Amino acid sequence: MATGGKAARKPAKKQSDSVKRRMAQLADELEQHNRLYYLEDRPSISDAEYDALFRELQALEAEHPELVLAESPTLRVGTPPADGFETHAHLSPMLSLDNAMDEAEMRAFVDRIARMLDRSDPIPLAAEPKLDGAGVELIYRGGKLERGLTRGDGTVGEDVTANLKHVLSIPLELKSGSAKPAAAVSIRGEVVLPIAAFKRLNQRRIERELEPFANPRNAAAGGLRQLHEIDTERLRSLEFRAYSVADGRPGSLASQSEVLHCLVAWGFVVSPECAVCDDIDAAVAYHEKLLLKRSELPVEIDGTVFKVDDLALQEELGTLSRSPRWAVAFKFPPEQATTTLLDIEAQVGRTGALTPVAKLDPVRVGGVTVSNTSLHNQDEIDRKDLRIGDEVVVQRAGDVIPQVVRVLLDRRKTGKDAPRLYRLPETCPVCGDETIRLVDEAVTRCPNIDCPAQLKNNVWHLASRGALDVDGLGEKLIEQLVDLGHVKRLSDLFDLDRDTLIGLERMGEKSADNLLASLDKAKETTFARFLIALGIRHVGATIAELLADGFGDLASLLEAKESDIAAVEGIGPTIAESVASFFADPRNRAEVDRLIGLGLRWKAPKKRSAKSTADGALAGKTFVLTGTLSQPRDHFKERIIDAGGKVTGSVSKKTDYLVAGEAAGSKLAKAQKLEVPVLDEAALLEMLGSD
Ligand code: IVH
Repeated sequence: MATGGKAARKPAKKQSDSVKRRMAQLADELEQHNRLYYLEDRPSISDAEYDALFRELQALEAEHPELVLAESPTLRVGTPPADGFETHAHLSPMLSLDNAMDEAEMRAFVDRIARMLDRSDPIPLAAEPKLDGAGVELIYRGGKLERGLTRGDGTVGEDVTANLKHVLSIPLELKSGSAKPAAAVSIRGEVVLPIAAFKRLNQRRIERELEPFANPRNAAAGGLRQLHEIDTERLRSLEFRAYSVADGRPGSLASQSEVLHCLVAWGFVVSPECAVCDDIDAAVAYHEKLLLKRSELPVEIDGTVFKVDDLALQEELGTLSRSPRWAVAFKFPPEQATTTLLDIEAQVGRTGALTPVAKLDPVRVGGVTVSNTSLHNQDEIDRKDLRIGDEVVVQRAGDVIPQVVRVLLDRRKTGKDAPRLYRLPETCPVCGDETIRLVDEAVTRCPNIDCPAQLKNNVWHLASRGALDVDGLGEKLIEQLVDLGHVKRLSDLFDLDRDTLIGLERMGEKSADNLLASLDKAKETTFARFLIALGIRHVGATIAELLADGFGDLASLLEAKESDIAAVEGIGPTIAESVASFFADPRNRAEVDRLIGLGLRWKAPKKRSAKSTADGALAGKTFVLTGTLSQPRDHFKERIIDAGGKVTGSVSKKTDYLVAGEAAGSKLAKAQKLEVPVLDEAALLEMLGSD
C-alpha cells in the first residue's frame, strides 16, 4: 500500500522523466532488433515479442505526444541499408503495415475506415496471404527490369538487382498484357523461399557441415543480400510473389483485384489464395480458413493482409508516415514466444522411462497457453544446452505439441544469477531405485517393474479403451488405490472388495458397486485385448492382433521362443525380444496366471477347417480395411478370413484389395498411389457371396 501511495504522488516531472527513459529504451531496443532482423538476418526475439515492444512504444507516444522522438522507430520503416551495397531511392516510399492481433482489432480497423469514409454499407476488402519473406521493389523501364531494391529504410533500398536476376519468377521483361505498362513501373512484392526448397537447402548445408538456416525468411533475405560468393542454388530456389503496382499503375485499373490480374498478365506470380471479401464477417471467415490451410501451403505466411479493394477509396483514406490507412495485416496467433525455463522435472512413464519435463513460465503461443512441455531425454537437453533459469523460445506450429526450440544465449545471465545445469536423477523420483541408461539408448529408465509410477500407468493403460475398457477407473482413483497399497500389482485390481472401495475418498456405495460391475464386465475380453492390457513394451493394438492371430491361444504364446515370435509376419526382432523377455520373467508369468485365476477370459478363436479356407472365395487374397464400415472391422475381418483371405494393417504392393468405408484417409490415398483396387462395402459383400 505504502509504495502504491508514493507512486501515485510522484511529481509529474519525475513521472514524465521515467516515461521518457522507457521510451528511449524501447526505441533503442527496437532499433537493435531492426538491425538484427533486416541487416543481419538473425533476429534474437520472436515477431510477437517485437510487436509487443513496438506497441508499448506506440501507446506511450499516444499518451505523451510531446515526448515522441524525431527518430522513433514507430515513424520509420525497416532500417538503413547496409554498407557494401549500392543504394537507390524507391520510386515512392515502401511502407509497412499496421497489425491487427485479433478479431476485435480487425473489426476496429473496418469500423475506422467506414467512419473515415462516412460509409454505413460494407466496404469490400481484398484478402491476401501475408507472405513471410523479404519485401522487394522491382523497377521496370520501357518494360525491362532495370533495378531491384530491398526495402531498406523505406525511402532508400539496397540494390540487389544482380542477385534478383537469378530468381526465376522475376520476369526480365514485362509481357504486354491487356494493360500496357507505363514508361516507369514499380512492382512490389515479397521474395520467399518455399518450404520444400528450404528443407532441401538445409539438408545440403548440414551435409556440408554448414550452419543450417534458421527459417525460410532468413534464408530468403540473406540470399538476396549476398555480396560475395553468390549462392546461385539458393537464389534460383527463391520465388517472387507480386502484390502491388506502386508507380506507373495503368489508369484503367479500379481495384486491388484488378491490379493482381494485371500483374499476372505481365508475367508475375501472385498468391493463388487472393480473394475479395464483401464484409467483415467474410474477412474473418477467410482469415480462419487461411489459418487452417497454413500448414499445407508451399510458402510460410504469418497472417492475412486486407486492403480496401477500391483504389479510389484507398486514395481517399491516404497513408500515415509508416503505413497506409487502407490496409491492415491481420496476424495469426504467434507460433513462437519466449519465456523462462523455471524448472525441469523428471516424470516416470508406464515403461519406466524418465522424461524430463520443462516447467515454463506460462506463455501464449499458437493460440494456447503452454506451461509444461516434454524435453524428451537428456541428449536433447544437452544438445540444446538448456539450463534452468534460461530464457527459451517455445514453438507451437499448427497442431504440433509445443516444444522448446532454443535458448536465447545472449540473454543468459552470469555470476550468481547464472542458470543451473540439469541432469536426470540417478535414482527414480518415485521409488528411489537406481536409474539406468543403456549404452546405445537415449532413454534413462527406472528398472523396477513394481515402481508405483509404472504401476499407476500400467493400471491406467489396462483400464483404457483399447485394452480392457474399465469404466469409472480414473486417474485420481488409480492414484489412491496404488498410494494406499490396495493395488500392488495389476491383478490386485480384480481382487478389490466393496469395503476397501467404499473406504476411499469420494467413493460412495453406488460408485463402488458400479466400479465392481465394470471390473467384472471387463474380465470378459479378447486374447488381443488381454495382451494389450499386460502393458508389454511395444505391444499396442496392431501387434497384439498379430500375436493373437499368430498363436491363437495363450499357452502357445507362453511356450513360444523368441524366434517363433519373430517368425510372425509383421513382428520385428525388437518386439519379439520384448515379448519373449516379458513372458520369461517369472513375476510376469505369475501375474498372467493370477489374472486368469481371477476370471479374465476370452473366447477361443474359431477353428477354421483348412479345407474351407484353401477353397474359400477369397483364398490367397490380402485385404486391408479402412474408414467407417456398417459394422465393426472385426466382423468383416472374420468373414474374409473365413473365406480364406488375409487381412493386414497397412497397404503395400502385396495388398490385393483395399476395402474403404466412409471417411477413409491416408490408406485410401496410398492404395490409389500404388494402384491397389479399392472396394466399397457392397463390393466386398458381393465377393463374399452374400447380399
Ligand atoms: S502490401 C503499403 N501485401 O508485409 C502496403 N505486404 O508488415 C505494402 N507483406 O512491407 C504492403 N505479404 O513486405 C502487402 N500480400 C501482401 C504482403 C505484404 C507480405 C509484407 C511486406 C510489407 C510487410 C508489412
